Amino acid sequence: MFEGFARVWSVVALSEELGRAKPLGIELAGTPVVLFRDKEGRARALVDRCPHRGVKLSLGKVTDGCVECPFHGWKLDGEGHVCHVPWNPDAKLATLSGLALPTREIAGQIFVYTDPFEAPSQEPMVDERLLAPGVRVSGFSIVWETHWSRAMENMLDWPHLPYVHRNTIGRGMRDASASARMDITCDDRPWGFHSHVAIDGKPQEGSLDLRWPNQMNLDLSGKGRFILNFVTCIPVDARRTRMLVAMGRDFLTPSWLDWVFNVANRKIAGEDKLVVESSFPVEIPAASEEQSARTDKPTLLFRKRYFAELAGSRAGESEPSERRRALPVL
Ligand code: FES
Ligand SMILES: [Fe+2]
Repeated sequence: MFEGFARVWSVVALSEELGRAKPLGIELAGTPVVLFRDKEGRARALVDRCPHRGVKLSLGKVTDGCVECPFHGWKLDGEGHVCHVPWNPDAKLATLSGLALPTREIAGQIFVYTDPFEAPSQEPMVDERLLAPGVRVSGFSIVWETHWSRAMENMLDWPHLPYVHRNTIGRGMRDASASARMDITCDDRPWGFHSHVAIDGKPQEGSLDLRWPNQMNLDLSGKGRFILNFVTCIPVDARRTRMLVAMGRDFLTPSWLDWVFNVANRKIAGEDKLVVESSFPVEIPAASEEQSARTDKPTLLFRKRYFAELAGSRAGESEPSERRRALPVL
């Protein structure tokens, strides 16, 4: 379960994507996950398998803050407890449960922890400016045909800007790219690292953060306006990544203006897509298997940590037999 991506917090959706009436099914690192809102409106997540016959709960509906399986109507709450088994008023509910995943909703984003068996040792962290009243968080998803580690390294890559994005966000670097020197600084942070660049010794505007493991924050604030682009590279499976492209801003905040920002971000993400999808092998290899330059520092830092902490990880498959016990067969 959650192969290569176990025991981490990942954003899996924006708050605005999850209503109260319908569950939302997603795929996270090869594991199906269902999101829904409980009676209090809190976001909840379960492994998207009904403990009865393995059906996807996300095909069902939400009633009384529980997700109801479409097959025989078993109802599961946000803790994974089965709270109703139709036709069986004598069902021993305490012995029946699905697998709940720790879930948090912060700054317009829904985070899920990728291990139903072990409690997380820390809470997810976001840029605190996103928590300010009046900040609008919006975005969209697109799927890239690549491993999430390739997508993530692309997000942390400064030197590609004047090449892949020569007419958009890389325009300002275009003329300098042939002869100038780029220096990248990466400062350690509790949540990852903060990077910024200087070109021929001149510090450039903007900064790019890694929020471990799979989110990039690009700070484009200036002139008294806050604007943060954040992209989460959500592993779908070994060959597909859902890019959740989002932004927080404190100007032009009515939701009907989201499309203006989405159009621009779609264009930029589209510029990267073809190039990144052509990377071979699909998953990042050990650093020694590719050739690198000094300006690959942020991606190499990511790669080092990826191999140290995540590659090959998985959430335990062996649930206690208690969880597996079904209704007694009569
Ligand atoms: S499979 Fe879900 S209730 Fe039977
Ligand atoms: Fe890019």
